[in-house]
Amino acid sequence: MGPLWIGTSWKMNKGLAEARRYARGLHDHLGKTGLSGVQPFIIPSFTALAATRDELGAESPVLLGVQNAHWDDHGAWTGEVSVPQAKDAGAQLVEIGHSERREHFGETVATTRLKVAAALAHGLVPLLCIGESAEVNQAGESAPFILQQAAGALDGLTPEQLGRVLIAYEPIWAIGENGRPATVEELREPFAALGREYGGRTSGLLYGGSVNLDNAEDLLGIDHVTGLFVGRAAWELPGYLRLLQMAAAHPKAGA
Ligand code: 13P
Repeated sequence: MGPLWIGTSWKMNKGLAEARRYARGLHDHLGKTGLSGVQPFIIPSFTALAATRDELGAESPVLLGVQNAHWDDHGAWTGEVSVPQAKDAGAQLVEIGHSERREHFGETVATTRLKVAAALAHGLVPLLCIGESAEVNQAGESAPFILQQAAGALDGLTPEQLGRVLIAYEPIWAIGENGRPATVEELREPFAALGREYGGRTSGLLYGGSVNLDNAEDLLGIDHVTGLFVGRAAWELPGYLRLLQMAAAHPKAGA
């Protein structure tokens, strides 16, 4: 098994000073070696990306990403940022298809597919987010729904390309302040389905949605889960550091 991926998206939070403080603190704790068996990643706003990269330094074990990127390399796409631009500013990873972007910004399965291809073409890691609504979940359709979202973005990739992809399963009903944390039992079936289809064929299968210091260890223990994608619990550095340490101490980190 590869490393446990433990990352956070800052979503639309943090100005430059706060981003720098966080990154400097992370650098002081992790240095150049990081934690054995754990791959940390941070996804700031576009505006804070280069500053975060500068504070972490060139040899940091922390990967950096963007929360979205356009599929085209350049051109008349007002307000958008391309994968080459993101790469230029320090991104190694591109988050694609987060439910907030699907719900509010017109992201579709078709656009996630284009963005996965663009990220791969430029050597960045696509972090494809999938997840179902409460209604789909209550209808017992979670597994087929998320498999369809994943297939829509990933079908047709070569094994080598698929091997560079990260998938984050984030049930919409479990995300954010209004979310209800998913139980380990609720997550077994979706991860069994993802494991059958993608286990060992991608860089990792992450869980996201109300991850916190109390549930992280149990969530990492679920079959096929190889990482956590965290919002609120990692927005302050001490919370993120504790999650990283917890992951490093997890039996799967040594597997
Ligand atoms: P929360 O951990 O705040 O629920 O957010 C999860 C998420 O959407 C990560 O991308």
